[in-house]
Amino acid sequence: MAYDFDEIARDYDRMNHLMTAGLDRCWRKRAVQGLHGKVLDVACGTGDMVVELLRTRHAASLQVTGVDLSEEMLAIAKRKAPQAEYRLADAEHLPFGDASFDAVICAFGVRNFVHLEQGLKEMVRVLKPGGRMAILELATPDNPFILFFYNIYTRRIIPWLGSRIAGNRDAYTYLPSSIERFPKGAAMVDKLKAAGGRTVEHRKLTFGVCRLYILVK
Ligand SMILES: C[S@@+](CC[C@H](N)C(=O)[O-])C[C@H]1O[C@@H](n2cnc3c(N)ncnc32)[C@H](O)[C@@H]1O
Repeated sequence: MAYDFDEIARDYDRMNHLMTAGLDRCWRKRAVQGLHGKVLDVACGTGDMVVELLRTRHAASLQVTGVDLSEEMLAIAKRKAPQAEYRLADAEHLPFGDASFDAVICAFGVRNFVHLEQGLKEMVRVLKPGGRMAILELATPDNPFILFFYNIYTRRIIPWLGSRIAGNRDAYTYLPSSIERFPKGAAMVDKLKAAGGRTVEHRKLTFGVCRLYILVK
C-alpha cells in the first residue's frame, strides 16, 4: 500500500528544508535544467518542483501539470503555485494519452510507488519521443566514511526531528529505511532503460545522498 502523505502534508515543506539544510532547493534547480514545453510533474506533492520550474528563465513558455495521490499535498501545491494545473491521480495509471508531454519530472516520488516498474513505464509512455525525463531521488552515499555519518543522521537525528517538528516519528523512521531499500545508480539506470529510456544518465549530488537520473526517450 502507498504511504499516506495526507498525514504529514502540513509540516512537509518545513521538514524537507530542515532535514536537507536547504540543499533540496539546489538539487531541484539542477533537475529542472533543460525541461521545456509541456511538463508533467509526477508526485508533485506540495508543489516545490512546480515553483522551481516557474522560476526558470524560460518559465513563460512552460505549461506545467502536477499530479499526486494526496489531496492534502495537492491543496498546498494549488495555493503555492496556482499557475499550474493539478490532477489527483496515480502515477501508475496516468490519466493522459501516449506522448502528451515534452518533459516529465519526478522529485522524491518514485521511491514511494507501490510498483516502481509500472510507474516508470507510465511516465515514459506519456513522454514524447526525444523528450526528457528528470528523476531526483535520495540514496545512501557509496563512500563508507560518509555513510557512517549519514547513518547516524538519518537513523537517529531525522526521526527525532520528525517527532519534535512534525509530531510524527514513524513517518521519519520510514524515510531512511525506504531510502536504504531503494535501487540507486546502475540498478536504477537499468530500470529506466527497461521502462523505455533510449539514453539514461546518472549524476551523484552532494556525495551521492541525492541522485539525478536524466532519461531521453
Ligand atoms: C516525498 S513527497 C515528494 C513531493 C514533491 N515531489 C517534492 O519534490 O517535494 C512524495 C509524494 O509522492 C506522492 N505519491 C506517492 N505515490 C504516488 C503515486 N503512485 N502516484 C502519485 N503520487 C504519489 C505522495 O502523495 C507525495 O506527495
